[in-house]
Amino acid sequence: MTAFDVRPITEDERRSTVDVLRRSLHHNRITDDAWARTGKSWPAEHKFAAFDGGTPIGIVSSFDTGIAVPGGRAVPVAAVDGAGVRADRTRRGVLSALMAAQLADFAARGVPLAVLHASEPTIYGRFGYGSAALGKTVRVARPAGRLRERVPAGGEVRMLTPEEAVKELPALYERIGLHRPGMIGRPDLWWPVAHDRYAGPEAGHLVAVHSGPDGDDGFVVYATVSRRSFDSPDEGAVLDVHDMHAAGPAARAGLWRFLLSVDLVSGVRGRHRPVDEPLAVMLADHRHAATLAVEDDLWLRPVDVEAALGARAYRAAGPVVLAVADRTLPGNTGHYEVGPDGVRRTSAAADLALDVDTLGMLYLGQWSATALADAGRIEVRDEAAVARADELFTTVTAPWCGTHF
Ligand SMILES: CC(C)(COP(=O)(O)OP(=O)(O)OC[C@H]1O[C@@H](n2cnc3c(N)ncnc32)[C@H](O)[C@@H]1OP(=O)(O)O)[C@@H](O)C(=O)NCCC(=O)NCCS
Repeated sequence: MTAFDVRPITEDERRSTVDVLRRSLHHNRITDDAWARTGKSWPAEHKFAAFDGGTPIGIVSSFDTGIAVPGGRAVPVAAVDGAGVRADRTRRGVLSALMAAQLADFAARGVPLAVLHASEPTIYGRFGYGSAALGKTVRVARPAGRLRERVPAGGEVRMLTPEEAVKELPALYERIGLHRPGMIGRPDLWWPVAHDRYAGPEAGHLVAVHSGPDGDDGFVVYATVSRRSFDSPDEGAVLDVHDMHAAGPAARAGLWRFLLSVDLVSGVRGRHRPVDEPLAVMLADHRHAATLAVEDDLWLRPVDVEAALGARAYRAAGPVVLAVADRTLPGNTGHYEVGPDGVRRTSAAADLALDVDTLGMLYLGQWSATALADAGRIEVRDEAAVARADELFTTVTAPWCGTHF
């Protein structure tokens, strides 16, 4: 067992801890210039590090924001935006100790939910996070892929200069709003790293904005990966969509129409798109859109189970009693009656029993209770309750985060 202390970092330890994270993810140490541009994305606040002597060997980081939950409310959430342990100190309990400190802090501060994106799907279940929203990777072949005639149209697309993008995107994202369960607010500290992609010295991304009858209502940040060369003149470029948000179907269609109209392109690819984005059926021939992968996108942990369950809305159905087990935050362990009229702790017998990470999978509506019971993640004590839980928790719109952090 390695000896180490876990504590919040100080202002002076920001840069050494960002480097622990970067090295764990196989990036180079941050340069002076990059730190000058993006250092404000790494404040000392809400960071815990493990230290051996004075040297940081592991780090977890988060920022506070809001998340849309089923029913449309925005609920406070801690977004975990970094976890890394120095390569010579892994598998000795460092992350476990950091996660315990971080979760205790979220609980003490009354944050009801925590979310993250996982580098590997096997890491976070043990800490109570469940795979709560999926994303799909799609590729539309060009030039064959084009939209059907009756797909909503009418707006205009304009490309932004890097300076315009830095100025306009934060307000535009806010204007579009958190209209899907799983979408999170982007606080000021989130933007500097994003801006580097289109306005930094090595910027490889372009930005286009859609305007509809009420003004700007969508944007796309994309990279051009060119495979065209003197020896392969017929190879087109691939447009890689990094970040795309639209306030409604017309804006979404307008942005895709624009991407599919760019010359010398053999394909447009989007990663972590909403699983129910109807791109294939927007095309004249839906076979020109291929789903290349469906992967876990957002992981969610109820930190305060009663507050989390009480924050979202439920569809009309009879209530169910859930027995929730939580090893890391044992105060959550208990029985909860959940129904359209509200949520309360109860001593009634449970209909369904599940661990808190499975509750995270159920929470945004991505997975049905039936699927989770079939997978052995929900223990069914009353068979009829599964259908009621399906009805209560399922959402019409698939959850989706759409923000990299
Ligand atoms: C992922 C990482 C932070 C784990 O840190 P760690 O200090 O090794 O984790 P711990 O020793 O506390 O491990 C706790 C448990 O999780 C398991 N675990 C940890 N990392 C794992 C991984 N990558 N895959 C599978 N299991 C893992 C451990 O085996 C251990 O299991 P046990 O409780 O049954 O013994 C570390 O490996 C790392 O920095 N990886 C590279 C960067 C990265 O992927 N960061 C995550 C970004 S989302």
